[in-house]
Amino acid sequence: MSRGLFIVIEGIDGTGKSTQAARLSEWFRERGREVVLSREPTAGPWGRKVRESAATGRLSPEDELEYFLNDRRQHVDELIGPSLAAGKVVILDRYYFSTMAYQGARGFDPLEIRRKNEAFAPRPDLLLILDLEVDAALERIGARGDTANEFEQRENLERCREIFMSLCGEGFVRVVDSQGTLDEVAQRIRDAVEASGF
Ligand code: TYD
Repeated sequence: MSRGLFIVIEGIDGTGKSTQAARLSEWFRERGREVVLSREPTAGPWGRKVRESAATGRLSPEDELEYFLNDRRQHVDELIGPSLAAGKVVILDRYYFSTMAYQGARGFDPLEIRRKNEAFAPRPDLLLILDLEVDAALERIGARGDTANEFEQRENLERCREIFMSLCGEGFVRVVDSQGTLDEVAQRIRDAVEASGF
């Protein structure tokens, strides 16, 4: 369907996705490719609503799931689909695998979430899951895990990590060890991209 190349970077908070997505984009640009770097939740109306809810009180599980799906539909229609059709490299910082993980951790069936998404959202050519132990990830985001809120966050991220890892073994999925320096992780990512033949 698409003529471009579609790469998604996923992982729990603190694994360095945003930095690595930017670095991978640069690497492709240096190789003469036209790159579209984007992220979810997007800056569009639905994405803004979920971001705002982090400060104003979390949405109900049903509304939250629906808003992420609406945000993604718009992203696919307006940016992802047209960019791939134009032959560009599309790199995303989070996509529907985050919905499987985070809304899955909130109680929805991850496989059902996947089915709903794959009804309209193209599957990437390559999914890079940045993996890090929850302790190390929490340390990177400045939490020590010793308040009630941080304890809840830890449990939640453990569950998210498990759901991400449940995707291992599928042909388009590569797990990237995210311990070490930014340069080391960036190199592992480039190795995974090249090993996939891109
Ligand atoms: P994140 O990329 O961490 O944004 P920021 O760096 O601005 O904080 O994403 C925000 C949160 O949204 C993150 O905790 C994961 C969550 N999220 C979901 O719960 N479901 C989804 O489908 C997506 C895309 C993100």
